[in-house]
Amino acid sequence: MSLQDLLTWAPAGSREASLAREVDFDRLPMHVAVIMDGNGRWAARRHLPRAEGHRAGIDSVRDVVEASARLGIRVLTLYAFSVENWKRPPAEVSVLMGLLKKYLWLELERLHDNDIRLQVIGCEDRLPADVRRELDAGRERTRGNRGMLFNIALNYGGRAEIVEAARRAIENAVRPSDLDEGRFAELLYTAGQPDPDLLIRTSGEMRVSNFLLWQIAYSEIWVTDTLWPDFRARHLLEAIVSYQKRDRRYGGITQPVAAGG
Ligand code: IPE
Ligand code: IPE
Ligand code: MG
Repeated sequence: MSLQDLLTWAPAGSREASLAREVDFDRLPMHVAVIMDGNGRWAARRHLPRAEGHRAGIDSVRDVVEASARLGIRVLTLYAFSVENWKRPPAEVSVLMGLLKKYLWLELERLHDNDIRLQVIGCEDRLPADVRRELDAGRERTRGNRGMLFNIALNYGGRAEIVEAARRAIENAVRPSDLDEGRFAELLYTAGQPDPDLLIRTSGEMRVSNFLLWQIAYSEIWVTDTLWPDFRARHLLEAIVSYQKRDRRYGGITQPVAAGG
């Protein structure tokens, strides 16, 4: 997307519009991953049940997915449910699964119209059958799309993913001498995708909570105190502007700009 397009979409004089002017569209992060956290705290601050926080968080998902696609982000990964989240009371788990199903059902055509391709990362076996059906329908409907890839992390655990990949290597009889980092990455859920350039976590927690452990080796991390239900496109733009000011060295040193270059 060009700055002009983005300014047509962002209301004139808005924070989004001024942030959009700061974004370098030639250096967008290819892959943005988000740990959506703080729904419960958002609800608690309003003396509401936690379920209301999860419900409100759906509006943020819609906004961020659409903004990312419009910006031209190639891959967006949202952490929606971890393998550890089964520890929560069954009623809360059931609210989360119900909301996911409803989101997919309501948003599928919009995702499709925006040329977004849906993919699930995580172990789907344990998800309720009706949720799996919606996921199958979503993947099927959007599989020919070539715009943004939207990974939704469900029953996802970074360690479980790595163990699963190791199992697959053994099952496929990969020779130890053939197994290098590139080959191993092809056994992960994110095979073929670039690693996240930018990892966002909402609600101020300074931890990765078992998210994309392999893939975030060199991701730039941006943490905001904003709770997920309050997170909108302008926060995403803030994260991107901050990301573009970073110096990514990958263990090397910053190359001085050549004279006259
Ligand atoms: C994120 O919000 C949603 C999920 C983890 C599914 P939380 O429910 O973790 O909210 P807090 O962290 O308790 O505020
Ligand atoms: C991380 O949030 C998982 C998701 C966003 C799905 P949690 O709320 O589960 O993480 P912890 O428990 O604070 O580490
Ligand atoms: Mg949390």
